[in-house]
Amino acid sequence: MVMRAKRPAQTDSKVHGAGPIAVLVIHGPNLNLLGEREPEVYGRTRLADIDRDLKSLGRELKMNVETYQSNSEGAIVDRIQKARGKSDVILINPGGYTHTSVAIRDAILGVGIPVIEVHLSNVYRRERFRHRSLIADIAHGRIMGFGAESYHLALRAARAVAESARPRGK
Ligand code: DQA
Repeated sequence: MVMRAKRPAQTDSKVHGAGPIAVLVIHGPNLNLLGEREPEVYGRTRLADIDRDLKSLGRELKMNVETYQSNSEGAIVDRIQKARGKSDVILINPGGYTHTSVAIRDAILGVGIPVIEVHLSNVYRRERFRHRSLIADIAHGRIMGFGAESYHLALRAARAVAESARPRGK
């Protein structure tokens, strides 16, 4: 008997009905400098490589991955608002805005899309001001400290998050 490798079961998107789960990945300020910026803290992987790998992992996991980076708080708020009715889950690394942005917190609450908070570094091993996150208590979960791998772990978690966000009985 020929045994086939088990493929991940396709979970239908809440917002697209029968389509694949739609995941929006948002990178905040200074993450465009990844690879050059403080490599001893953030590693040497460039943002373009992280995005490419996330899209490829998304194809493997049958999820549709879109990525976005901005250094501007308002642009990130706009992008979160635009995701309403289009994305099932948002993965967000708000960079420095993690510790300061009421506006990003409010945008997340406003659209009601489940969020996974992602950080390359373990913020608790760093300066005290990084220990506070304004989205930690409204995030579905948080993944940090694994460098670029933090994003991969978050994407793997996104399916369960999308399923748990589904209205009961569906
Ligand atoms: C970061 C941690 C933040 O404190 C910092 O401002 C960043 C990156 C991380 O991914 O480890 O820009 O979000």
